[in-house]
Amino acid sequence: MPIAVLISGHGSNLQALIDSCQNEDFPARIVKVFSNVPGVEGIKRAARSGIPSVVLDHKTFDSREAFDEAMIKRIDESGAELVCLAGFMRRLGNKFVQHYHNRLINIHPSLLPAFPGLNIHEQVIESGTKLSGCTVHFVREELDNGPIIIQAALPVNQNDTPKLLASRVLELEHGAYSQAVKWFAEGRITVEDNQVIISESETPNSILVNPDPRF
Ligand code: GRF
Repeated sequence: MPIAVLISGHGSNLQALIDSCQNEDFPARIVKVFSNVPGVEGIKRAARSGIPSVVLDHKTFDSREAFDEAMIKRIDESGAELVCLAGFMRRLGNKFVQHYHNRLINIHPSLLPAFPGLNIHEQVIESGTKLSGCTVHFVREELDNGPIIIQAALPVNQNDTPKLLASRVLELEHGAYSQAVKWFAEGRITVEDNQVIISESETPNSILVNPDPRF
């Protein structure tokens, strides 16, 4: 399945997807990488793997709508059937979200619906919650909302700092994102109301803190 990946920065989730796609058995291929920020590391990662990329700098557009429309045009031209937001830090408008209904997914570094928005790890630590993790979900109009495909969880340690926690969550993200894309490309995901159903799902033990199906 041809996929597009949208980034704004470092691109470690992009790298995880690039690595997965290099596996012959993996059912997806990245056809194009899009960045709204010029010169970022993620663009270099794409280039190193021979994946074409497009930079559409949002600052050069007159309006949010004009930027979104240009993105839609270029993404559709790429032939991508799934659009993956991977650290894409620009809010996309309703028209964009509706255009890719149930084929636009995002990764967020918390266990949604807890801790949407920004500065997540600071908030997690301040709140005293004992578990954090990441969520891959379909994108809806409301920010960090939408049917959840997969979550991976880890304990918050007593001596955690936002930086330490962020780096452990990021590692979890890489596995979770590849798994979500794999399920999607295999055609195993359906969305009913707000629920994602994965057909013939076996529990992916390695990316769940508590894989015991009794809990
Ligand atoms: C990740 O934590 C992702 O969940 C968030 O932004 C970060 C991007 O990291 N939306 P990277 O660019 O993939 O390294």
